[in-house]
Amino acid sequence: MIYLDNAATSFHKPDCVPRAVVEAMQHAGNSGRGSSGEAMAASRLIFNTRCQIAEMFDVWGPECVAFTSNDTEALNIALQGTLHPEEGIIHAICTEMDHNSVLRPLYRLEKKGMKLTILPADRKGRISLTELEAAIRPETKVIVCTHASNLTGNLNDIHAIGAIAQKHQKLFIVDAAQTAGVFPISMKKDHIDILCFSGHKGLMGPQGTGAICVRPGISVEPLKVGGSGVLTFQREHPQDMPETLEAGTLNSHGIAGLGAAISWITEIGTEQIRKREQQLMWRFYDQVKEIPGVTLYGDFSREERSPVVTLNIAGMDSAEVAMVLDEEYGISVRAGGHCAPLMHKALGTEKTGAVRFSFSYFNTEEEVDTAAGAVKELAAE
Ligand code: ALA
Repeated sequence: MIYLDNAATSFHKPDCVPRAVVEAMQHAGNSGRGSSGEAMAASRLIFNTRCQIAEMFDVWGPECVAFTSNDTEALNIALQGTLHPEEGIIHAICTEMDHNSVLRPLYRLEKKGMKLTILPADRKGRISLTELEAAIRPETKVIVCTHASNLTGNLNDIHAIGAIAQKHQKLFIVDAAQTAGVFPISMKKDHIDILCFSGHKGLMGPQGTGAICVRPGISVEPLKVGGSGVLTFQREHPQDMPETLEAGTLNSHGIAGLGAAISWITEIGTEQIRKREQQLMWRFYDQVKEIPGVTLYGDFSREERSPVVTLNIAGMDSAEVAMVLDEEYGISVRAGGHCAPLMHKALGTEKTGAVRFSFSYFNTEEEVDTAAGAVKELAAE
């Protein structure tokens, strides 16, 4: 099997990841619930992973990192926890590059009265920062965007967007689903107020893990309240980070795996990992870009992009291409819509969908060549 769907979830994990999960299942109790050796073991491993995340993303401290079950949950908390249309007129800005995990919470808030500007993307899936700045209004509360499109791999310049947000004193929320663990992100230098990501993609951790990192001083109302292990006799849920955003038992087993994955990534180096993944992406791109009948999507004029190549083959539905790749070549890719409806519209692929090949550090040149060869054969049929 050749797994080229790493933008959906990384499949080949470093061996230390499942080992850490199993070990946590054998030794970890419930963090913050009691002082037994097992409870303390869970607290320690959770705290260690918080510290690792704080270090990796230049967060103010481990207390600014709250664990979630995935990026969608983190983004729902970030958006629904900071935007309160019932309190007055507010406006938010997002982009056509965004995933439904950003769009749908915003549409829900729009129904409650929030104003929303969605920045258009061009035919190559890029947005304009001049247009972004021009869209800011006095009542704008939040600028939110993905760091990289899950459909095209195009990157947004989060450093420049953060500077714009800071200049206009707007909250800046970043969806780093496709870049966490692969691209450098500094909450401090990129002026990010809230950073959201999942742990199971570029971070190579288990599914069911994710995090929301919040700049100190920003108030985020939790989506869920309940047991937190502290302030039991208080009616109100605790308001301090991270407990305020972590009601209920945490996924300490998954968090242990995520911690192991981050240790592994830190040892290899994100730059090394990124270079390898991009090298595989460009190798694939170079072999498919001129195949007659193949249309590629996204901006390949920039060296820096997430390791994704998305295409269609003339005369074939994307789902059919993916099915044949899977059944006849043993190649796993993602096809159809990619939970990014506005990006599909901008690219003109809302009817056909598109076939996405996404690469990981663990893929080989041979796998890439086999996949490119398969595209060539299908396009020639
Ligand atoms: N958002 C993930 C993807 O792009 C699941 O496949």
